Amino acid sequence: MNAIVFSQTGGPEVLRLSEVPKPEVRPGMALIRVHAIGVNFADTRFRQGTYVVKPKLPDTPGMEAAGVVEAVGDGVTNVRPGARVAAFTVKSYAEYCQAPASMVVPLPDAVSFVDGAAFPIQVLTAYHLLHTADATGPGRTVLVHSAAGGVGLAAVQLARVAGARVFATVSSDAKARLVLDHGAEAVVNYATGKFADEVLRLTEGRGVDLILDAVGKPTFEEDLRCLAAFGHLSLYGRAGGPIEPFDVVRLSPKSQKVSGFMLPTVTRNFPDKTRESAERCFALMRDGRLKLHIGKTFALADAADAHRYLESRQSTGKLVLIP
Ligand SMILES: NC(=O)c1ccc[n+]([C@@H]2O[C@H](COP(=O)([O-])OP(=O)(O)OC[C@H]3O[C@@H](n4cnc5c(N)ncnc54)[C@H](OP(=O)(O)O)[C@@H]3O)[C@@H](O)[C@H]2O)c1
Repeated sequence: MNAIVFSQTGGPEVLRLSEVPKPEVRPGMALIRVHAIGVNFADTRFRQGTYVVKPKLPDTPGMEAAGVVEAVGDGVTNVRPGARVAAFTVKSYAEYCQAPASMVVPLPDAVSFVDGAAFPIQVLTAYHLLHTADATGPGRTVLVHSAAGGVGLAAVQLARVAGARVFATVSSDAKARLVLDHGAEAVVNYATGKFADEVLRLTEGRGVDLILDAVGKPTFEEDLRCLAAFGHLSLYGRAGGPIEPFDVVRLSPKSQKVSGFMLPTVTRNFPDKTRESAERCFALMRDGRLKLHIGKTFALADAADAHRYLESRQSTGKLVLIP
């Protein structure tokens, strides 16, 4: 089968289309004929060797896919061959991939393979940041950074659905328009100015209850400045670099909370919660209250171009590869 393989870590050019053996289905696993592959920012870090999970070279990137189950291994009872599914997996930049049966989510007929591939990581990260790591609901104010990206656009819409007031940041005016169209009340261009002053102005000096931050070092200090009393800053990525070590005593005067988040904490430990949240989000997609913005699709062979585009900060929404 065809797969993207890299034999050394580095820039997008290390990603090459190669012929590799089709995986043999193992006990507890589902073998999936891949129809669409979700590209995640973490894939670019994995390729560079700077992600928490290190590649075992030669390796294949990819953490999610949608397709049709071709075979299941011994002991699998929750999914059958022929089922349309989305899955949390590894090595998904390929024509076939394997996923643990507990990490496979049935895809409703109304959801395309492209939306299915766009869904697992970014939408469920946004959902669980808002509803598992926090208790987003009516009356809460939420600030979403890098809001035109995959997780960002999902978070803006899901926070609005929950009844929160949503503010957002992006790095260009074109992205700001897109985020406003997805339901943010106000969008600040954080490339051209400090966002905390604007957020404080928008909240009459109170600040926001929840900040979703996957940028890290460039935004952290400003975050603390515009976080409300008892506010919660959730750090779930570091696209702009890791934050400097800081003294938690600094959080005391306003009783603030800073937390970390990784989606696998939910998907690996709470499969029922994962499925339930997926079903809720599929229902919102059916209602039209959650729209997945597919920024661009690429052929699998052009995975390097997809990575270049994502790292350029020009991309919006989700990038998808088609094998
Ligand atoms: N913890 C978890 O479980 C989890 C799960 C999924 C994703 N994440 C994290 O969430 C973030 C978003 O992921 P995504 O896949 O949806 O990607 P994305 O948001 O579509 O793309 C990354 C965005 O990060 C922003 N950014 C800020 N500083 C950047 C820099 N120095 N270089 C490149 N981009 C920069 C850019 O938006 P602007 O140009 O508008 O700033 C860019 O569009 C990533 O940091 C990712 O690692 C974490």
